[in-house]
Amino acid sequence: MKFKLPCEGVETPFYYYDMELLRSTLNEIKECIAGSDVHVHYAIKANGNPEILKVIADSGFGADCVSGGEIEAALAAGFSNDSIYYAGVGKTDREIIFGIESGIGCFNVESIEELKVISELGERCGKKVPVALRVNPNIDAHTHEYITTGLEENKFGIDMRCLDKAVDFATASDWIDLIGLHFHIGSQITITEPFALLCERINALTEYYRRRGVEFPVINVGGGLGIDYDNPDENPVPDFKNYFDTLISGISLTPGQHIHCELGRAVVAQCGSLITQVLYVKEGIGRKFLIVDAGMNDLMRPALYGAHHKIETVNAEEDACEEVYDVVGPVCESSDVFGKGEKLPAVRRGDLIALRSAGAYGESMASTYNMRKLPGSLFIG
Ligand code: LLP
Repeated sequence: MKFKLPCEGVETPFYYYDMELLRSTLNEIKECIAGSDVHVHYAIKANGNPEILKVIADSGFGADCVSGGEIEAALAAGFSNDSIYYAGVGKTDREIIFGIESGIGCFNVESIEELKVISELGERCGKKVPVALRVNPNIDAHTHEYITTGLEENKFGIDMRCLDKAVDFATASDWIDLIGLHFHIGSQITITEPFALLCERINALTEYYRRRGVEFPVINVGGGLGIDYDNPDENPVPDFKNYFDTLISGISLTPGQHIHCELGRAVVAQCGSLITQVLYVKEGIGRKFLIVDAGMNDLMRPALYGAHHKIETVNAEEDACEEVYDVVGPVCESSDVFGKGEKLPAVRRGDLIALRSAGAYGESMASTYNMRKLPGSLFIG
């Protein structure tokens, strides 16, 4: 990828956002769902940068939030309150009341215990609370174990065996408006099968409840569509068509029912890169270390999940010969490594390096560990 200046002169490390790519990604989604019964709520946890949120809100998407802070950010960015859906296994009373008073569109409820608290707080606020039950469909998403969420032994969602009880409680409560079922089977899913299997589970469940007289207008399939971390230039926009076609053809909707989904990574990952500067080219014993000024605190995914972000030089000399480097950060942890045995054009102190596909779960997961400054951001296009 060609990074547009003024990259040089901006304090590194920083997140570089290609806003043109973000807008074309959003347009592609809009084209795929035009005229269908699908609504997309952007998962703010992937990237809550206000500039990014504004563009997504302006495109007419809803928001998927997992904390009071994210609800606040969504409202500030201009997402309409009824398009804000709120999930999470550990919502506090204060966050629930804030959500109720803000008039958000749906609480995705993860346990019967939480359902009871929401019912009490709804009564206290004098408002009937829209709720979807998050079902744990026990589907293996074939992704990293830290980001698979739909399996039985996971903390997320209500086990299918307890669902009747939750539905009975919700329909009996005067303060709960049971509007939907919610699912989310994991993240960075790059094959179609888990989504197709999810559709089958959904159809079986909605049919079961229909026979018992319970209809769910909101069928929320969660997020999870993956991206191509290895080839960001060849595949800058995920295969949304296949994803939405799978959902639209797989889920049997009845009149008044809509599909909702909560895409995060697929929307923002490819538009962001972490730009970092080479501090030292350190000659080790039998290997060369490229020590850069970004660390695991700026981009946590490699250290946390063993994830790999494609590493590129931004401004190395074009005819430089290739060298092999271990690309590492300055943080005092052995896991502060972005890549081992990376083949790159020879670089020198001061050169810029890009860690690609970092728009999702990059800036939003950054920390100040080692008392480092949070990375800045630059928006181009
Ligand atoms: N909905 C729910 C209920 C979720 O838990 C998540 C992500 C999403 C939607 C959005 O999923 P996406 O479309 O982005 O896959 N930090 C990890 C990813 C954690 C995902 C957590 N939940 C990473 O960097 O890979």
